[in-house]
Amino acid sequence: MTPAARLAAAMALLDRWLAGEPAEAALTRWARASRFAGSGDREAVRDLVYDAIRQRRSAAALGGAPDDGRPVTGRALILGCLRAAGQPLPDWTDQRHAPDPLSPAEAARLAAPPPDMPRAAGLDIPDWLLPHFDQALGARADEVLSLMRTRAPVCLRANAARITAPALAARLADEGVQAGPHPLAPMALHVTAGARRLRATRAFADGLFELQDAASQAVAERVAAAILSDLPAGARVLDFCAGGGGKALALAARGLSVTAHDADPRRMRDLPVRAARAGADIALTPDPAAGAPWPAILADVPCSGSGSWRRAPEAKWTLTPDALAGLTAQQDAILKRAAALLAPGGVLGYATCSLLRAENEDRITALSAALPGWACIDQMRLDPLDGGDGFFLALLRKPA
Ligand SMILES: C[S@@+](CC[C@H](N)C(=O)[O-])C[C@H]1O[C@@H](n2cnc3c(N)ncnc32)[C@H](O)[C@@H]1O
Repeated sequence: MTPAARLAAAMALLDRWLAGEPAEAALTRWARASRFAGSGDREAVRDLVYDAIRQRRSAAALGGAPDDGRPVTGRALILGCLRAAGQPLPDWTDQRHAPDPLSPAEAARLAAPPPDMPRAAGLDIPDWLLPHFDQALGARADEVLSLMRTRAPVCLRANAARITAPALAARLADEGVQAGPHPLAPMALHVTAGARRLRATRAFADGLFELQDAASQAVAERVAAAILSDLPAGARVLDFCAGGGGKALALAARGLSVTAHDADPRRMRDLPVRAARAGADIALTPDPAAGAPWPAILADVPCSGSGSWRRAPEAKWTLTPDALAGLTAQQDAILKRAAALLAPGGVLGYATCSLLRAENEDRITALSAALPGWACIDQMRLDPLDGGDGFFLALLRKPA
């Protein structure tokens, strides 16, 4: 595909997204129907689409669309992104399957000085969410939100049961993938080249690594350290909201005996295969009460995902105050259930990939009010300026 044809495809896909189709579904449908698109084209179109979603508000303004809720077009978003990147106004005349040429009105709008934008528009966040970020991040808010307008780094976790991080970096270099240490976690490697090849490497098939954000690894590491300071290696841990099992695998690699549970067991369907590849023994349970009381529990609860909006940017435009209130109620209910399953004196880890106090510190305050005698023994907050996704972790001890 020509560069202009990729832009035209991204504009059409963004129109579908703006009409309500999830971006991933639109991309999959487009790829199936576009046999002419090679893997490089698919990746490029995907990047264009996700960049525009991350920058939806500012790109719309720069691309000449109004910032007042009136319909935006995929074309405006792509033109706005090109302008934000300081690229010259496109001349598509010679390229096949290009977007329509710029109309005189469009060309005039794009040539005019950039419009003044409200702070939230410039930071690509809905107005109602900006105070939440200010409250949670203080002086870091603008820098964090600006960074969240860009792509997330690719990180992996070396499987401590099989290899060291430097040895894995060397193995991957032999397979055309460049990766170096990441400051957030001892087994984390930051992939700087060849990321698309990762899942096809021999090292992956041999279970030497898993793709996992570095902050997510830091959370699992902190949970494992707290548990292992109390209990021997092999101690039983319940991962109460295991999902795909990223943290369950990281805890197992630290020598803990992990049992995984999820209210939606389909979320765990890949976990047995991932565990087998890693050489980890992870049990799945539909009924965590059967193994209670648990000496340690991790509750990596469902949340807004606001710490990972670089990876999943659609969510920042769809979250509403009501949905946030629903999530915090769900978080309180999960904490209450997990607390009841924990043994006296045991450790409960509460984690979110959210940056919002409402889902983090406020939930711990609510728990402390509801369950007197519980102690918060450790707390950690990470944001994208630390080098990974945003995460929150509180470690709580149940009274003995
Ligand atoms: C943030 S995700 C977990 C991510 C996972 N721990 C990881 O590291 O890959 C939250 C999970 O909680 C599950 N969940 C939601 N409500 C739940 C509940 N009441 N009890 C247990 N799991 C629940 C969801 O299905 C979802 O898979």
